[in-house]
Amino acid sequence: MPDTDVWATWLRTGRDGGSARMRAENLERLASVRDQILDRAEIQAGDTVLDVGAGQGLLGLGALERSGPGGTVIFSDISEPLLDDCRTAVAQASATDRSTFVRASATDLSAIASESVDVVVERAVLLFIEDRARAIAEYHRVLRPGGRVSLGEPLNSWMGADRPGYLWGYDLTAVTDLERKLHDADRARAASDRDLLCGFDDRDLVAMARAAGFQRVDAHTELALAPPPARDDLDVFLDTAPNPLAPTTRTLVAAALSQDEAARFTAVLGDALREGRGERRHAMTFLRAWR
Ligand SMILES: C[S@@+](CC[C@H](N)C(=O)[O-])C[C@H]1O[C@@H](n2cnc3c(N)ncnc32)[C@H](O)[C@@H]1O
Repeated sequence: MPDTDVWATWLRTGRDGGSARMRAENLERLASVRDQILDRAEIQAGDTVLDVGAGQGLLGLGALERSGPGGTVIFSDISEPLLDDCRTAVAQASATDRSTFVRASATDLSAIASESVDVVVERAVLLFIEDRARAIAEYHRVLRPGGRVSLGEPLNSWMGADRPGYLWGYDLTAVTDLERKLHDADRARAASDRDLLCGFDDRDLVAMARAAGFQRVDAHTELALAPPPARDDLDVFLDTAPNPLAPTTRTLVAAALSQDEAARFTAVLGDALREGRGERRHAMTFLRAWR
């Protein structure tokens, strides 16, 4: 069993309940986000690219392809188990000689020299960090003049707003009383999550980039509404968690509901999943800035 922590546990199994099918669906959805971030990074052959909060290497592995045989990618993360996953994936891609691995917080990249990097890429990391301005200042410090950062951050302030009777966009208004019990059982953690994960929007990110010293900044935000996907895998869904800091729905059901309530709740949830009933929100900001 490889070492793990909350980050590695979520990326390896927590976001897909251990289901190969859900994992493939997630990766397909993420591939288009990855491509947008990398396209906007305008990576050139031979570039040195830093992937901050690399996770399992979604962006860094793509950057290795784009920077070609003369390029280098620095995979950095606070999670050593995830850096191990990156090492494994990089070895499988026969790119170990063009990769380095740095355990560091985005708010302290002192292991990376000032003005040593052509491109910083990053996805879904700033939302977990309290001092986002500090992290963006670090991206600015490590970039060479003319270098650029390209990042994508989910905007939970819109997407993750608490909606009574809805769970990840699935309509459970027939059992709002039980959905609220789950919500209340997790209230303290959810409140601190909300403060952290929902505490910024696209204009804040632009302002932070400007304050960090970036002279040119552009950002675009995608907002979309749609019914959530129809699915027939209630058990997989129960074993997923919406983010690395949150418990699975199954854990919450066991903690907050009686057996009868759990049966009523999961029956409505199963129907909502099968029918794809509800409204899911998507909100993502893509920001690019040039030093
Ligand atoms: C949602 S995952 C995104 C992973 C990867 N960027 C991707 O797109 O698949 C968040 C990542 O941020 C990392 N992380 C969390 N806090 C961090 C911090 N303070 N500094 C650097 N990385 C951090 C986690 O270990 C995890 O790999």
